Amino acid sequence: MNRLAGVRLVAVMGISFFVGLQFRHVRKLFYTNFYDGPGNDHLAIAPIELARAERTNDKRRRQSFAVKNKRKDVKKYEESEDEKQDKKKKRERGPPLRFNAGNYTKDFEPLPWSLPDLSDLMDLSSAEFMEKYIAMKRENNMQLPWEQTSDDDATTLPLPVISLNFPKSATLTMRQFFKCGGVTSIHTSSQQGRLGICMMENMLADNPPIHNCDTHKRQGKANKIGFISDIGLQGPPCFYSSLHDGGLEAIAKHYPESTILLVTRNATSWHRSIKKWGTLLHRWKTVCKFDGSYHGEQVQYWNDLYTTQSQNKEKYWADFYNAHTQKIREFVMKHKTLTYVEVQLEDPKMGELLEYYTGIPSTCVMDCHPGPNWHKRTNATSKCHAPGDPMGLKDVPLSAKNTERDDDDNSKNDDDGDEEEENDER
Ligand SMILES: *[C@@H]1O[C@H](CO)[C@@H](O)[C@H](O)[C@H]1NC(C)=O
Ligand SMILES: *[C@@H]1O[C@H](CO)[C@@H](O)[C@H](O)[C@H]1NC(C)=O
Ligand SMILES: *[C@@H]1O[C@H](CO)[C@@H](O)[C@H](O)[C@H]1NC(C)=O
Repeated sequence: MNRLAGVRLVAVMGISFFVGLQFRHVRKLFYTNFYDGPGNDHLAIAPIELARAERTNDKRRRQSFAVKNKRKDVKKYEESEDEKQDKKKKRERGPPLRFNAGNYTKDFEPLPWSLPDLSDLMDLSSAEFMEKYIAMKRENNMQLPWEQTSDDDATTLPLPVISLNFPKSATLTMRQFFKCGGVTSIHTSSQQGRLGICMMENMLADNPPIHNCDTHKRQGKANKIGFISDIGLQGPPCFYSSLHDGGLEAIAKHYPESTILLVTRNATSWHRSIKKWGTLLHRWKTVCKFDGSYHGEQVQYWNDLYTTQSQNKEKYWADFYNAHTQKIREFVMKHKTLTYVEVQLEDPKMGELLEYYTGIPSTCVMDCHPGPNWHKRTNATSKCHAPGDPMGLKDVPLSAKNTERDDDDNSKNDDDGDEEEENDER
């Protein structure tokens, strides 16, 4: 996205705040998604200031309004409506969430990250790599969960299942899949706040990765979360367990028997998709320093690659994406007690394979559209639907028939798929 469009979006957002954007949206911006929203990095804290100013303005406006219209019943009526509205807002907002991007500013120093230089491991398809992986497990006489039977568990995979896919690689689709299979599944944020922040703070404190963000209350019952995806954020603070130093090690150390899931995708298609997704890539560069410009020697390879690439950096980000896959593959080959499942989004057998590995029926694989555009254009009640064109969307002017999962929204926010459900339960 170009800078001008970014600035324009910020301007529109700013105006929306003052005009009185629907509160639900304001709240969303505050507590879960703002930091992935459009904007320049130096404006990262602006909405909080804006909202504060708005609240103060509101109060002043109401006070002067009340004084001016003391004896006018009709105005009094309006005023009390206003106040009702205000109370409702307060109720809806609740206390701030524990894992909160609001605690961080752009001064937060980017954490060190690393990726391996590209090797042949990268050229293997997911199916080829899984063959290699399974052979390694057999050589070590280790059980494969998908060869076990279980009568009552939703899946034979050891929990938690941690899905390390980057955004725009079916993160919501996988959440939906495990949820459909009966596993308590979370995407982006738990009720305690943003997963990426929880995982970062836990890593820095040497706590288990989802300590304090691992329960989901529903109808008064607290369920242990069994599946998480979209666990990164581009900050500040920027944190991806699979990229930042110590992130994967923390998983292996504290959950040595857990499952790591990775959905890979043609890296070029991924880049084409993610570069439309708001300022995400821009933040990867400027906040996370994923262009290798900040952490010296350790990422020199990436910085050299970045600086020698042409303008649109397609090859850079594709290599980056593939090296991420390679890093995870190398890691799970070394940490043998973990269970690893990798599938490829373009593989026509993806659903079948997922069913084989997880025991969850392949009919649980949906096409999902995390951004707001899908809903706006279709009025669909769910962000996910069965593959194909089950809702007769042929006539909708949208790439609705585009079956790339998680992928038709040229949208500004990555989205918390569970927002609706969770609001009521906080
Ligand atoms: C972040 O903010 C939340 C909400 O204000 C607070 O509960 C939490 O303890 C803070 N965390 C840190 C690390 O300061
Ligand atoms: C990935 O997609 C691009 C663009 O659609 C295509 O040119 C390329 O051959 C694909 N790569 C692989 C490995 O399939
Ligand atoms: C969605 O609903 C609105 C309001 O009910 C309606 O005006 C609009 O035409 C609908 N859009 C689609 C694509 O069905």
